[in-house]
Amino acid sequence: MDIVEWSRWESETVRGRAKGEIGMDATNDRAAWFQGGEAVCSVTPEARSRAFRLVLLGPPGVGKGTQAELLCKSLGTCHLSTGDVFRAASCQHDPSPALRSALDAMRRGELVSDGLVVTMVEERSGCLGCCGGFLLDGFPRTVSQAEALDDLLVRQGVSLDAVLSYELPLPEIVDRLSGRRTCSKCKAVYHVTARPPHKEGICDLCAGSLIQREDDRPESIRVRMQAYEESTRPLADYYERSGRLVAVTADGAPEDILERSLRELQARATLARH
Ligand code: AP5
Repeated sequence: MDIVEWSRWESETVRGRAKGEIGMDATNDRAAWFQGGEAVCSVTPEARSRAFRLVLLGPPGVGKGTQAELLCKSLGTCHLSTGDVFRAASCQHDPSPALRSALDAMRRGELVSDGLVVTMVEERSGCLGCCGGFLLDGFPRTVSQAEALDDLLVRQGVSLDAVLSYELPLPEIVDRLSGRRTCSKCKAVYHVTARPPHKEGICDLCAGSLIQREDDRPESIRVRMQAYEESTRPLADYYERSGRLVAVTADGAPEDILERSLRELQARATLARH
């Protein structure tokens, strides 16, 4: 996007934010992503002059899901989380053996196999070509998944705008993970001290009960951090080499990190112009 387009987008976004018009439609069930196959989302995305296609990278608990929610509201795009798809599938009465082994891996804090994850995203690749854009959270997580994503994007005729890579010291990450509470119905994310709900244990948005994720137990957190260091951190180099990496510090309030992310995206657009 050149700077003229950027300015137009930015002023529309700021105006829209002030009027509450821009943002991922909260009534959209994202069925195409959650169910895959022929499923169609309850709200058809608006074709936009500027659709953002982004990946969020960073260790477990750094705040990717929280930023995804805020970025989607600001940019009017759609949050696609592979972890959310697996967690939604865990409610199936009779999961396939492959899904059962994926859910076991998740509980232990290990990564699900590349083959299964890539097949799952491939079955939903229409979401990558969606005219509303996308914000991928939790995928890719290995270099092999990143290569598969590049292939899928080529087949959809679209390309990534940027990979936002969030970093935070380990003690703060552990604090964020151990205090996280998630709505059992709408999946909204809270934190017992940093982002508490108005009523303890109850979701502000849908009154669902708030639960602690199984993989937020200390023993699973350790395994997840190790999987991140071994398999996911090398992705930063992969995206740096192709000029798509945008590093963002993830300390401070979520809204401050959002502003930092938007500023970095803008700086990148300005640089691309010159
Ligand atoms: P996934 O669901 O992707 O989880 P994750 O990457 O481990 O990330 P999290 O959701 O734990 O953290 P987050 O960074 O989104 O932080 P959040 O915003 O919630 O994956 C889960 C599992 O699924 C994996 O372990 C794996 O088994 C499997 N899987 C999924 N995709 C896979 C793939 N592609 N390949 C292989 N396996 C795959 O924030 C955390 C807490 O901090 C919250 O309480 C929040 O309120 C709080 N918080 C956020 N921001 C701030 C802030 N600025 N200040 C204070 N508190 C904050």
